[in-house]
Amino acid sequence: MSHLKNRIIVTSLLASIVLVSTQTVGIGNIQTNVPWKAGHASAFEFPYVIIYGGAEDSTETMSTQSKGSTGLWIWDIRNGSWYNPTTQVQGGGTMLPQVYFKATNLPSQGQIAALVSNTTGGLATGVLQKLDINSWSWSFPTTSMCVTNPKYIYVYCY
Ligand SMILES: *[C@@H]1O[C@H](CO)[C@@H](O)[C@H](O)[C@H]1NC(C)=O
Ligand SMILES: *[C@@H]1O[C@H](CO)[C@@H](O)[C@H](O)[C@H]1NC(C)=O
Repeated sequence: MSHLKNRIIVTSLLASIVLVSTQTVGIGNIQTNVPWKAGHASAFEFPYVIIYGGAEDSTETMSTQSKGSTGLWIWDIRNGSWYNPTTQVQGGGTMLPQVYFKATNLPSQGQIAALVSNTTGGLATGVLQKLDINSWSWSFPTTSMCVTNPKYIYVYCY
């Protein structure tokens, strides 16, 4: 009986490993079905306009619209292609939905920082989220405002 139980556990473990590994981190394929958005953050980092979070339900009014998202959309300025990248998150956690917030470029090439407000539990315990488009990964710079550059391994402090 317990042997069978172990077998089921091992099988479902293997199944979840396969599921995880099929989600390749990267920019992915060109998308043609791009969601409506409001209250999102955006920044330009050549060659992409990066759009993150925001409300995605156009049926809600401005006053009731308070639910954010974690959607990441990329617009390639060279030819107007849209992408919906798959990212990895520092510590393997899930991102908290965000709405009505801002993002900006960082001095390190290919990085943007978003000043987030939804810090209800979860992983984003600080107010900064950093996206690295070289590796399509999110991390959480410390509140001392230091950001490390994974490409050259140095630290910027503001
Ligand atoms: C903040 O995150 C929580 C947990 O995921 C979610 O339920 C809530 O809708 C988010 N708030 C906003 C404003 O998106
Ligand atoms: C836009 O450019 C990218 C990168 O060169 C290419 O992969 C993609 O197919 C192009 N899209 C269109 C619609 O031409």
